[in-house]
Amino acid sequence: MEKVILDVKNLDKVYVSDGVKNQVIKNMNLEIYDGDFTVIMGPSGSGKSTLLYCLGAMEDVTEGSILFQGEDITKMKENTLSDLRLKEFGFIFQQIHLISNLTLFQNVILPGLALPESTNKDIYERADNLLEKFQVKHVSQRLPSQVSGGEQQRAAIARALINQPKVLFADEPTGALNQNNSEIVMDLFSELNRNGQSILLVTHDRRAALRGNRIIYIIDGAVKSEMKLNSYDSANLKDREHTVNTWLSSLSW
Ligand SMILES: Nc1ncnc2c1ncn2[C@@H]1O[C@H](COP(=O)(O)OP(=O)(O)OP(=O)(O)O)[C@@H](O)[C@H]1O
Ligand SMILES: [Mg+2]
Repeated sequence: MEKVILDVKNLDKVYVSDGVKNQVIKNMNLEIYDGDFTVIMGPSGSGKSTLLYCLGAMEDVTEGSILFQGEDITKMKENTLSDLRLKEFGFIFQQIHLISNLTLFQNVILPGLALPESTNKDIYERADNLLEKFQVKHVSQRLPSQVSGGEQQRAAIARALINQPKVLFADEPTGALNQNNSEIVMDLFSELNRNGQSILLVTHDRRAALRGNRIIYIIDGAVKSEMKLNSYDSANLKDREHTVNTWLSSLSW
């Protein structure tokens, strides 16, 4: 029996701009499982990013609840929430948000230093290990502007992982990368997931989506369809590609 890590119940999200209501998430019910590599796909504007930000406690919900390990994050006070974001959730975006006047190393350790219970030595060690694993240790004393986009994104992933989050959230993390760098980043995701990291990925990229073991397709703020897959194995890529492509075509993707 799979363990539910995020449990979405009757979720609504309404944006109001200039007095006009736009319901972006519509009475959604969804369970996300611990240890899964869950991919969210769907047309532009269907609410994928909004859903991800609601799940990651970066965005308020309008109605409904989201239980993280059984606790309703929509009812939490702001200081409990910021603690949760810092310790349990890691975020990566398409636009890489590194701090421009800090080195890659300094960027990576920053969220770690905010944790009172970790010693600086632990954080430095973890940062070193992550930067090495992601093959950016040799450029870790440079500023973001002095390294490539792929290297920046790998440092951003290291930063998202420095506090050993329960869930890694990623919104189009390969959107600004070329094919080669995308593959490197997705290989890292696959390896992290093999080692037990729960991942929630929003992507337009079919190749990136193949990495998941579950793909959820959203249309107009509601779950339209989903597909379960075996864990990623580069040896059976052709079959996997065919299965996913056929399914996506049936959804007019
Ligand atoms: N802050 C906001 N205020 C008002 N409307 C918003 C806001 N953010 C998003 N929306 C609207 O909500 C809808 C869903 O947006 P969202 O960014 O979740 O879509 P998406 O599926 O991630 O799209 P894309 O694939 O283009 O990234 C869109 O119609 C968008 O214009
Ligand atoms: Mg989006």
